[in-house]
Amino acid sequence: MYILAIETSCDDTSVAVSDTEYNILAEMNASQLVHNEYGGVVPEIASRIHIQTIMKLTDAVLKRAGITFPQIEAVAVSVNPGLIGSLLVGVSYAKALSYSIGKPLIAVNHLLGHIYVNKITYPDLSPPFLALVVSGGHTELVYFRSHLSFNVVGRTCDDAAGEAFDKIAKILGLGYPGGPVIDSLSKQGNADFTDFPQAFRQKRDYNFSYSGLKTAVLNYVQSHEKDYIRQNINHIAASAQKAIVSPLVRKTIQYALELSNKQTEKKLQTDADTTQEKVKIVLAGGVAANSLLRQKMIEETEKYGFEIYIPPVKHCMDNASMIAAAAIVKYENKDFASLDLNPFSTKGIREIR
Ligand code: KG4
Ligand code: ZN
Repeated sequence: MYILAIETSCDDTSVAVSDTEYNILAEMNASQLVHNEYGGVVPEIASRIHIQTIMKLTDAVLKRAGITFPQIEAVAVSVNPGLIGSLLVGVSYAKALSYSIGKPLIAVNHLLGHIYVNKITYPDLSPPFLALVVSGGHTELVYFRSHLSFNVVGRTCDDAAGEAFDKIAKILGLGYPGGPVIDSLSKQGNADFTDFPQAFRQKRDYNFSYSGLKTAVLNYVQSHEKDYIRQNINHIAASAQKAIVSPLVRKTIQYALELSNKQTEKKLQTDADTTQEKVKIVLAGGVAANSLLRQKMIEETEKYGFEIYIPPVKHCMDNASMIAAAAIVKYENKDFASLDLNPFSTKGIREIR
């Protein structure tokens, strides 16, 4: 059983073929480097390049996978959230393909894709689990009771974690995207060089905020000599990275502890003989590639006896394999979309299709 998956929510065109056991037969990506010169993605340019790329890329992926269109059992596509013009190209192509080969269409939420890509590395991963979704546009802590039932327990009030990396890198003159370059400079920096603000440090809630940090970095840069900033760029990057990553780790662990305490209480009230399941934490999204976040999450989960699931770096970035992985559960439940499917750009994981 083969699923063809398409991802065009931002500036990368990606197509993959998987079977229904989470094996990826082939995946190919076409990156749009043209956006670098603008310091961010230009939506209109992105959708135009998707149109030029998608058919050729699909043909190449099928060839690499060694299969033909009649062997495909379903066509999956990311439908939200994302840039509406970019999504529209992928969805229109997927609808046309599904109609012409007479196979069902599956609409996938992009964030759900970031979470379920973990199934490729950990096929046995199943709910309940707590997912920290940290991408360029989203920062959400989501508790999955089952594949179909979940709660967003925390989210950013303003900028996403990836957006904070990108905006701070821009302020520091480090280019776009900011996450990888800040990550790499930080390895030679002292994270305690300066103490940038962390929102809701004391508050026991699960929301995040990064706009204050961005302003603090801007004020810092404006109140120091250019040479001083240049000489200490590694330390400033490391301090900013710490201020982005620390709340992510602290709040995820805090919520996991709450879950664990609830389980213990329930166990005491019922049958004392059952062994308590470890709380599972899943990392997802582009910022999950961050070295400090990965290292801290491993340390903290070890300390508290939780299980951690971290995707390989190549699966943190936008890719069609993640759309295939999230489509498998839908395929098994015959949760198909109709041909009047429309993409929508809306925020967050709440609006799951
Ligand atoms: O998930 P993603 O590929 O796109 C969205 O769905 O938004 O995430 C892109 C984000 C960018 O903001 C980028 O700066 C960030 O992920 N990112 C990183 C790292 N690699 C990518 N942030 C921190 N450290 C990294 N190593
Ligand atoms: Zn993404």
